[in-house]
Formats: sequence, structure tokens, C-alpha cells
Amino acid sequence: MDQITPLLGGMSPAKFMRDYWQKKPLLIRQAILGVQSPIERSKLFALAESEDVESRLIVKTDGAAKKSKKAGADAGWRMSHGPMNRRSLPAMSQPGWTLLVQGLDLHVPAAYELLQQFRFVPDARLDDLMISYATDGGGVGPHYDSYDVFLLQVHGQRRWRIGPLKDASLQADVPLKILTHFVPEQDLVLEPGDMLYLPPRWAHDGIAQGECMTCSVGFRVPEKTDLAREVLLRLVEGLECPEVPDLYKDPEQPATVTPGQIPAALQEFALAAVMKALKDPSALHSALGEVLSEPKPRVWFQAGEPLPDGVGVRLDPRTRMVYDDKRVFANGESWVAAGKDARQLRLLADRRALSASDVARVSPALRELLDQWTE
Ligand code: SIN
Ligand code: CO
Repeated sequence: MDQITPLLGGMSPAKFMRDYWQKKPLLIRQAILGVQSPIERSKLFALAESEDVESRLIVKTDGAAKKSKKAGADAGWRMSHGPMNRRSLPAMSQPGWTLLVQGLDLHVPAAYELLQQFRFVPDARLDDLMISYATDGGGVGPHYDSYDVFLLQVHGQRRWRIGPLKDASLQADVPLKILTHFVPEQDLVLEPGDMLYLPPRWAHDGIAQGECMTCSVGFRVPEKTDLAREVLLRLVEGLECPEVPDLYKDPEQPATVTPGQIPAALQEFALAAVMKALKDPSALHSALGEVLSEPKPRVWFQAGEPLPDGVGVRLDPRTRMVYDDKRVFANGESWVAAGKDARQLRLLADRRALSASDVARVSPALRELLDQWTE
């Protein structure tokens, strides 16, 4: 983590995290020398035809462009969601459109490999690799995102105008989140291999200069209330009644002339029950790990073969695996792990692979678990 890397402009991941992450933008010229798009144009269009792939087409519209001239705005926009037929895409000669494909790392090994370079950030925060293809003038308009992003230019040029977000108000009547008052402070043209890091809520507008492809490494930012809801749901699922039921008792209940009123003692009983469930850090951590390792929405796994002898294992690109000091979590499930097995499982989560010699040395219990997982 203290080694300098061209990916971060000759900075170490440790320094980048300390000085830039969530703090200020960074332009890195030639972050990846001789970069190539992880997918070629025709294959990207084919991918956008699939039900399993999340894609969007954004077109700057002519009519609205005329209208906007009158209104003094930028341009008009049309957005459609995939899956989309190749034939439903505008002509390559038509300027001002862009196709965005989310989660490319789940479908394309080269994109998955590219994403691995950003694992100096915890997996619980790393989201996916999105790619955009644009014809000349294409883009998604001036906007801000709520998450950090690395924008890596992989083909052609894109002009980025960026600035701190001073006014978050959005244009009405457009299908995209477009800022009403965008005040750029910097104007940058990115060539293939160049990369721009932006912290959350930093205004930006990227416009393709000629045919252009840009990869976005995006991050997950849990929202407090959302996370609470998800963790609580998991926590509730995991609650088990004790063998001897802990029943409400009210020997002190007097006769009442207000039978509709909820007894205060019952309110206290409920509060104590909820607090007890919440006070168990182990259950809470378990629920959190399960939530964080939940696979992405369109992910499905086919049944596999049992693990043959003498081989190593690697995690499928779609598998999410994380751990804490007591458990490991994979694809929304948790296992308590201790000792040597825990060390091997943590290694598997960190490296996303175990060598054949590592696998040969695991305990029978862990071997059984690996067999289960591969199947
Ligand atoms: C794009 O690649 O066109 C959009 C990426 C972004 O602004 O987040
Ligand atoms: Co953005």
C-alpha cells in the first residue's frame, strides 16, 4: 500500500487515500499506459441486448435542442433502458448519443481484471465497472453523483468540465438528473489511459470529442436509513425464540375503565425485547456481513461440478465475499470461522483465489464447504 503506482499518478494507494479519497479530485495522466477498452464496440452493443445486463441509452434530441436554444438551456435528452436491440441504437454517424452499460465486470473478464486494480479500497465499498460508449458530442449532461468515481478514458477523447457543487438543483422535465446551474472550474481533455478521480457530490460534465469510450469505477455508499432497514430485516430473520418462551406477564394489571389503552408495561416489554435484539453485536455484525455480500440484483449461479482433487479455486466474478473477525460471508450467507480455516477463508476473500497447495492443506470441514460452494 506504500508503493508508488502509475495508476495513481506516481502516488501510493496509502497517500491517495489519505490526501484525495472523499476529499478532492485528481487528474492522472497515463494512469494505464497503452490502455485498451475491456470490450470492443460491437461486443458492447451485443451485451446491451441481454436481459442480464443493465444498460441505458441517452440521446441528445434535435427537437429539444431547438427548443432549448429558445429557452437558453443546453439541450434536450431522451433516455431508454435496456435490453436494447442493436438495430434500435442510433446510427454511428449520428452525433450526441451514448450507451451506458453497468456491471461490465460481471460479464467481461478484462473488465473484472481492471476493477481488481482498485481493491486498495475495501470490497464492501467497491461497486462495479461501468462503461460508456459515445459518438461525438455524447454525454449524460452536467450532474453530480453521490459516490466516488474513477473515470478512466479507454478509447478516444473526452472533455471533462468539473467544479465543486455549489447548487444541487436539478432541471425539471428531463429524464436525467441534470444540474440547473453548473459552474465548471476546470476544463480537462482526457486521452486514452488518462483517469480522473472525483469525490462524491462533485459536479461534472463529460462530452465525447469524436467516438469515445470511458470506464467508470464506481463505489457503494450505504445510506444510513437504507442500511438500517436492510440490516434490521436480516436481524429479524435471524431471531429465534428461546426454548422456554419469554412471555409477557402482568400480575399487577389493575381492572381498567379504558380497555382501549395499551398498557405502559406492555410498551416497556416490547422496548426491552427490541433493545435486547439490537444489543447483540454478534447478530448485528452477522446481518451486516450478509447484507454487504448480497450479490447484485440480476446475478444467478448455475449448478457446478464438485471440486476435483489437486486444483486451486477462485471466486466467480459475481461472487461477493467479505469477512469480519468472527465470520465469513459469501453471497448473502454467513459462516462462523476460527483458526486455520478462518485464515484460509480470509485469504480467499482478499485474493479471490486459493492455490492448489492451499486447498490441499485445508481441514476436512473447509474442504466440504469449498465442495458445496463449487457445486
Ligand atoms: C459517462 O461515462 O458518460 C458518464 C460517467 C459519469 O459521469 O459518471
Ligand atoms: Co457522473
